[in-house]
Amino acid sequence: MQFLEEVPLAPYTTFQIGGPARWFAEAESEDDIAAGIAFASARQLPLFILGGGSNLLVSDAGFPGLVLRIALRGIACNQEGSRSIFSAAAGEDWDGFVAHAVAAGCSGVECLSGIPGTVGGTPVQNVGAYGQEVSQTIVTVRAYDRKTAQFVTLPAAACGFFYRRSIFNTSERARYVVSRVDYALRKDASASVAYADLVKYFAARDVLSPTLAEVRDAVRSIRAQKGMLLVPGDADCRSAGSFFKNPAVPVTALDSLAQGLGIDKQRIPAYPAQDGEVKISAAWLIERAGFAKGYALGKAGISSRHTLALINRGGASAAEMIALRDQVTEAIATRFAIRLEPEPVWLG
Ligand code: EPU
Repeated sequence: MQFLEEVPLAPYTTFQIGGPARWFAEAESEDDIAAGIAFASARQLPLFILGGGSNLLVSDAGFPGLVLRIALRGIACNQEGSRSIFSAAAGEDWDGFVAHAVAAGCSGVECLSGIPGTVGGTPVQNVGAYGQEVSQTIVTVRAYDRKTAQFVTLPAAACGFFYRRSIFNTSERARYVVSRVDYALRKDASASVAYADLVKYFAARDVLSPTLAEVRDAVRSIRAQKGMLLVPGDADCRSAGSFFKNPAVPVTALDSLAQGLGIDKQRIPAYPAQDGEVKISAAWLIERAGFAKGYALGKAGISSRHTLALINRGGASAAEMIALRDQVTEAIATRFAIRLEPEPVWLG
């Protein structure tokens, strides 16, 4: 493994933003992961683990430590009764993995088609879309434990999965470096069609029980309409997908929001969350606060197809993205007394 110096990070992110990494290396094996971590420790360098760079905003100054890009590849499948256990290396392209599972006739991740990034990133923020979350299929996560300096295999129950959350991005942030994820998929099960957008898509086409491949195509086409599918050269795709999480609020807050806006509460797109709270659509709040699709603030902007995606309109700096983030966050706080939380990871 080579340790390179002053490597620009912008090309490694879907935002296409960010200064250089002081040190940069690509791990193709578990030994490389251990060697990278040892390199950083020996020099007392901060360490950042890079996957697909699809949920990442890198500062203009870059990163003063080692960026270790996870490039382990390989997918294996073992049959365990009715379950097909897919072991995928952390550096595998996520959508490539989904395509592989669908081609093998296995269900469980088909609704997660078209999501950018790598396999290793999926347990970290418990990737979810269109009615599925990876926590529903993950059996184990194999990772290097920096605390004990060895590889461990964590069962899903030890990963603390919640909406966009796990131990990997909360209580144990920076402790583990994921090298492999095992997903239990099913050969006998039918494709999952629960999310309203998907139900509508198939109803319009008179398809009663779509195949896995049809669900995959549907999700990709819905994502494409929303600018949430990576298309090279399309400015709406220079984003990190959803820039904000959908905020969870007490039911009473939803009532006062409806009252304040003078609308029926049913008209606010919201759905039940944990602990009796409701999650409100952040995209809807942003639009209601007066930010239209295609809004621009310098070279930063809002996608012309989905208000939840902040985009780099071309040549934007991280500082410009932050200015837009603050403008949106403040507008929502002032108008609705709701604090939006960014979803992407901030580096530098
Ligand atoms: N809406 C607007 N304006 C828009 C877009 C949406 O008002 O420009 C409103 C509509 O009322 C719509 C509702 O927001 O019905 C929900 O929109 P959508 O179905 O697109 O879902 P979302 O809540 O905005 C979440 C995830 C996405 C995921 C989709 C589909 C979060 C933060 N985002 O978005 O995940 O693809 O559901 O399941 O939970 C991501 O995390 O990067 C991501 C793309």
